[in-house]
Amino acid sequence: RIERITGREILDSRGNPTVEAEVQLADGTVGMGAAPSGASTGEFEALELRDGDQSRYAGKGVCKAVKHINTVIASSLKGRNAGNIYEVDQAMLAADGTKDKSNLGANAILAVSIACARAAACSLHLPLYRFLGGVNGNRLPVPMMNILNGGAHAANTVDVQEFMIMPVGTQSFREGLRWCAEVYHALAALLKSKSLATAVGDEGGFAPNLAGDEEALEYIVEAIGRAGYEPGKDFVLAIDAASSEWKGEKKGEYRLPKSGKRFTSVELTAHWAKLCENYPIYSIEDGLDEEDWEGWQMLTKALGKKVQLVGDDLFVTNTERLAKGIRLGCGNSILIKLNQIGTVSQTLEAIKMAHKAGYTAIASHRSGETEDTTIADLAVALNTCQIKTGAPSRSERVAKYNRLLRMEEELGQSAVYPGFEAFCITR
Ligand code: PGA
Ligand code: ZN
Repeated sequence: RIERITGREILDSRGNPTVEAEVQLADGTVGMGAAPSGASTGEFEALELRDGDQSRYAGKGVCKAVKHINTVIASSLKGRNAGNIYEVDQAMLAADGTKDKSNLGANAILAVSIACARAAACSLHLPLYRFLGGVNGNRLPVPMMNILNGGAHAANTVDVQEFMIMPVGTQSFREGLRWCAEVYHALAALLKSKSLATAVGDEGGFAPNLAGDEEALEYIVEAIGRAGYEPGKDFVLAIDAASSEWKGEKKGEYRLPKSGKRFTSVELTAHWAKLCENYPIYSIEDGLDEEDWEGWQMLTKALGKKVQLVGDDLFVTNTERLAKGIRLGCGNSILIKLNQIGTVSQTLEAIKMAHKAGYTAIASHRSGETEDTTIADLAVALNTCQIKTGAPSRSERVAKYNRLLRMEEELGQSAVYPGFEAFCITR
C-alpha cells in the first residue's frame, strides 16, 4: 500500500532540472523514479511540464510538476496497491484528465509511475525486470550504441543525429559491450589522427565537424576494422536521422538545418537506400518526418523487407499512433521512450502491440538522462532485444550498460544474447 509520495527537482545530464519521485509503502520499502528529457522531441509526445518562470533555470524549472506530485498525485494514490501498476497509472490519468498529460505533467506522472513499480518490486524482493516481466524476460538487448553525434545533440556540422554500432556477431552482452567500447576508442584515435574533435555530444558520442553522413560512416567502418572487427559480420550499423527536425517550408519538404540541403520524401528515401547499399546499415530511425505518413508508406515499401525502419517521433510510444502506422504499413519497428507516453503501463502496452504486429520494439533513453536505469530492466523484462542508450561514456549512459551487465550475471545460464536475431521478434 502506498503510504507517502514525495517529488523533488533534480538535475539531468544536460544540467537542466527534471522530476524525481520517491514512493514509500506501508511496509517501509521505498522506490525512486526520475523523468528523462528529450531535445529533438516529437510533436505528439505527452507534455513535459516546465514552470516558464524565467528567473529560475531560464524557465525550465519543474516546481509545478513537483507540486502536483506532492498534492494531487499523492492524495489520489494514497492507500493504493503500488504493485497494480495499471490501476496506479489509471488513477493518475483520471486525476490529470487530459490526453497529453498536460495538467499534471507527463514528467510528474512518469516519475511516480516508475517509483511505484520500483517500490512494489522491492517490497516483493524482486529485481525490477522480474517484477515487470516475470520469468519470461531473459534476453539481453543488443546495444544500438551511438558513437557519433550530430543534429540537435551536438554543435557540429552533421545533420544526422546519431550514428550507431550494433555488436551482433557475439554470444554475450558483456562481450558485445567490450567490442563497442573498443571501437569507440579506435574511433577516438582515428578522429584525433585526422585532427578532428573528440569532444562528445549529449549522448556521449564524438561530435566532430564532418562533411556529411557518408564521411561519418566511413570513419565508423574504419574504426570497426582498426579495433579488429569485421563490419557487416561482427558489427552492423544503425542511424537515427531524426528528420522531424528537418521540416521545410512546405509539407513533404525537408531542409537540413546545418548543411542547408533540401530533399523531398522521394529523394530522402533514395538517399537512405543508397546508404544501405554502400554500408552495412540494418536500421534507420525517423528517416522521414513524423507527419509524413505517405512518405513512410513509400519508404517501408522500398526498404522495409531488408532494413529495420524505426518510428520514434512518428509513433511517440503511443498505441494510437502505432496502430495507425501498423494499419497503413508505416515502418516495422517502434522506439520505446517511457516519457513520450508518460506511464509504465502504457509503455508496456506499446511494446506488446508492436510485438503482436511483428514490429520490433527498442527500449530507449533520452538525450537528457539521469542515473535512473529503468530502461535497462524494461529491455530485459519485455525481451525487446535492442536498446539505445548512447556511448560508453557519460555516466548516465554507462549506468544502463552496467545495470545490464549485472542482470546478465544474475540470469546466468538462462541469459540469451540474441545477436542478429535482435531484428526478429521474440514474443
Ligand atoms: P531526444 O533524442 O531524446 O533528444 O528526443 C533521442 C532520439 O531521437 O532518439
Ligand atoms: Zn530518435
